[in-house]
Amino acid sequence: MKALIASGGHGTRLRPLTHTRNKHLLPIANKPILYYAIEAAVEAGITEIGIVHNAGNDEVPSYIGDGSKWGVRITYIPQEKPGGLAQVVQISEKFIGKESFIFYLGDNMLVGGIKRFIEEFERSGCNCFLTLARVRDPQRFGVPVIENGKIIRVEEKPKNPKSNYAVAGIYLYDYHIFEAVNSITPSERGELEISDAHTYLIEHGYTVGYTEITGWWKDTGKPADLLEANRLVLDSFQFRNDGEIDSLSDVAGRVVIEKGAKIINSKVRGPAIIGKECIIENSYVGPYTSIGDRTQIIGSEIEYSIVLRDCKIINIGIRIEGSILGNDVEVVEGNSRPRVHRFMIGDQSRVEIV
Ligand code: DAU
Repeated sequence: MKALIASGGHGTRLRPLTHTRNKHLLPIANKPILYYAIEAAVEAGITEIGIVHNAGNDEVPSYIGDGSKWGVRITYIPQEKPGGLAQVVQISEKFIGKESFIFYLGDNMLVGGIKRFIEEFERSGCNCFLTLARVRDPQRFGVPVIENGKIIRVEEKPKNPKSNYAVAGIYLYDYHIFEAVNSITPSERGELEISDAHTYLIEHGYTVGYTEITGWWKDTGKPADLLEANRLVLDSFQFRNDGEIDSLSDVAGRVVIEKGAKIINSKVRGPAIIGKECIIENSYVGPYTSIGDRTQIIGSEIEYSIVLRDCKIINIGIRIEGSILGNDVEVVEGNSRPRVHRFMIGDQSRVEIV
């Protein structure tokens, strides 16, 4: 069993964060999203992993490396243009060969690992095995049409979904999937849709089984999804302090404080993570917050947020909440009179002011 992980695409819904980085390298609880997919494969005992990335952009290969830090071998497969998930599979045929494989969308996050899906797939003897999750907004996803307990078709982002299930971005295949992805034609939006490949398999007599994801699963396509995934991952943390907490501070709950971080006269309420060499001074860090390495929060309050590395949040009078700050961002008090807001904000940013 090999693993194929998709890490290409444009990440348009996460701009401006994705103007300067691939969305799969955005951190959830201070760890790149893509690590979660790789670690799920490693935990399932897979040693051969292929990662599809945007051709001409080496950000993912240079960040992730050859896999030796996980004791696995990673092969990079460049995709010329994001032409759809079935195209991701199509260009990976040489890497996969005749083996069965798990196809994992690098922006999907799942608790509980993938081992159980691999076992169920192998036991079922199916050519293709889909993982389904109940969702409130199926029109955002591939949606299975189920009759008498069998999937008879998969519709991609249907206006009128026929079930409340999303096909999650964790698929298991044998080599017949290559016949499907090499036979289908592009959809109206010009992509080779993975849902059409699934429908092809069903219509050509191949067996497509499924299982339901009972724990949490998240497609981190939008900013709100990142915050929610961050909340869910932090919820699994245990208290650990490798930094310094002074006697005036009050740190409670499942908080991880990394090496060199200093908590000075501040209140931290977990679940939260404070990265290496951060300074939290005269401040409040509330639940479900991830603070990246070397960030300084002074005289300010923040909760339910993701702050990347090397930021400065200084003397902000109103609590920051539900926010995502990129690398090297400064949100600081001005001291000019009359009191003004002064912005230096990149393309497609969003600021809410009360
Ligand atoms: O998350 C599950 C959903 O993922 C499924 O329910 C849908 O059927 C499936 O089409 C897909 O929908 P999305 O709209 O979420 O796909 P997205 O374009 O966001 O791409 C998913 C991942 O694959 C993401 O990590 C980027 C990567 N990708 C995407 C395309 C289109 C590539 O690497 N290459 C591509 O050409």
